[in-house]
Amino acid sequence: MIQNESTQGEQLSPLSIGHSPLNQKSHQIKMTINGELRELGVKPWVSLLDALREDLHLTGTKKGCDHGQCGACTVLVNGRRINSCLTLAVMQDGSEVQTIEGIGKAEALHPMQSAFIEADAFQCGYCTPGQICSAIGMLREGKAKTEDDIKELMSGNLCRCGAYPNIREAIKAVMAKGEGVGS
Ligand code: FES
Ligand code: FES
Repeated sequence: MIQNESTQGEQLSPLSIGHSPLNQKSHQIKMTINGELRELGVKPWVSLLDALREDLHLTGTKKGCDHGQCGACTVLVNGRRINSCLTLAVMQDGSEVQTIEGIGKAEALHPMQSAFIEADAFQCGYCTPGQICSAIGMLREGKAKTEDDIKELMSGNLCRCGAYPNIREAIKAVMAKGEGVGS
């Protein structure tokens, strides 16, 4: 432990000086975000969610609980759905990340986005980016066959507005058409 004249004799907290996590150096990482290679410096304790929102200003990905309970932060990493609040950005160095901004555009919506609109599958919309990313990831997993399967496999994505029946309608419509899973 480092001591100087003013601190000699007193117990230093780990946050006092050199041990503070805030003093840890940033790591340069590269990720392909929505098809574009991005390089950024992140502290080792920064979540992918915060890197997306705070460093890359991709605020479509929402922060709900920030500890893996609500699914609002769901994104696709290397094609698979994950809670971005539960992974560190440094762990995703070299990964391919797709956020809601890369799922579709206003003029060319992804079939899942169109289905959500057609089924009126949202109210406030806060959970919707996570619901859509999660639904696409779930269909890619290929395990959902019935409405009960959808209910179970989407149970990590909470909707405080209770739009669940309409969300399931939207997902079932995409499943029935067999489209939108690959991209
Ligand atoms: S913000 Fe990540 S699960 Fe709630
Ligand atoms: S639409 Fe409001 S939380 Fe889901």
